[in-house]
Amino acid sequence: MRRILGIETSCDETALAVVDAGRIVRGHTVRSQHELHRRYGGVVPEIASRAHLERLVPALESALAEADAPLGSIDAVAVGHRPGLIGSLLVGVSAAKALSWSLKRPLIGVDHIQAHLYAPHLGEPADDAPPAPPAYPALGLVASGGHTSLYDVAGPARMNVLGRTQDDAVGEAYDKAAAILELGYPGGPAVEAAAAEGDPDAVEPLPETLLGRESLDFSFSGLKTALLYRVRGRPEGRGRAARFPHSAAELAPETRNHLAAAFQRSVLRVIETKLRRGLDAMARAGRSPETLVVGGGVCANRALRQRVERLGAEAGVAIRLAPKAYCLDNGAMIGGLAWHRAAAGEADDLELPAVSTT
Ligand code: KG4
Ligand code: ZN
Repeated sequence: MRRILGIETSCDETALAVVDAGRIVRGHTVRSQHELHRRYGGVVPEIASRAHLERLVPALESALAEADAPLGSIDAVAVGHRPGLIGSLLVGVSAAKALSWSLKRPLIGVDHIQAHLYAPHLGEPADDAPPAPPAYPALGLVASGGHTSLYDVAGPARMNVLGRTQDDAVGEAYDKAAAILELGYPGGPAVEAAAAEGDPDAVEPLPETLLGRESLDFSFSGLKTALLYRVRGRPEGRGRAARFPHSAAELAPETRNHLAAAFQRSVLRVIETKLRRGLDAMARAGRSPETLVVGGGVCANRALRQRVERLGAEAGVAIRLAPKAYCLDNGAMIGGLAWHRAAAGEADDLELPAVSTT
């Protein structure tokens, strides 16, 4: 068992990859659907699943062509089958089952969140000699559009949750901040670009919610609401009837950038504090982490990457960030992690369900 096809359709990227030996990425295609969802300001599940159907076969052909891998050279078919949007997951799971059955190759279901934490194992695209696997135990952070969680990681796909968001995920907070500041969609890269032009000290600081003194959980909804009120003023009325006295259009471009910078500073400070707490908590539990592993779409953020690198140097732990190509949803992390399940003799059958929840 060597070559695995990884299929990922849990949200709005149709992504497939061919991965050898769990770490060498031969071909890697991501067809994003941003242009379809932009006008709605977020992912519309029905549109996403229909778009996956249209894109899956062309994306498969492109990943196989890039890898120079005929379909017959695939040893197993892996698919992200949980968690995600149910209609979107079903497209990938059904395609994986059809391929597994017709090629007579094993089918391997993979957890999407575990796969994000596996991404730091992968080599850059087409790198024949990927880096050594991270040393364990590790503290893991998944920072994505759907999840913000800390884990005690014992090895690939072996992890226990230490803390998670109680409301918005960090990527979701970026997307909402971009909507509030009218910076466009998807929000993460837009807020990052605006923040790079702004000065967080030029505006009143935004809140940093840490919850209890030792809490490893996250909360970003207070930050989002504080930003909303800062931009649009306090609303009159509640819920859908709320009327705001100001609009984002009134913001001077510099102020918009300063607010984006203040928002990003609050987010990064909270993340850094939680990572420090996580390292301490694991050490107290007798599981001093060797490594800090980070994955998920928000890990593409340059300021976050720099801050995590700095923290690692200060705390004396190795840092393994997902390569930029594999921060956002991708098939390589699915095909890579599946190799470990296959090596352990595990496989699924055609009853493999698509499951929306973690
Ligand atoms: O991992 P991912 O592709 O999907 C989920 O599993 O949720 O993450 C997508 C999220 C989005 O919320 C997006 O705004 C955020 O990652 N993101 C970023 C950046 N690039 C993507 N957030 C901050 N800075 C970025 N550069
Ligand atoms: Zn994801």
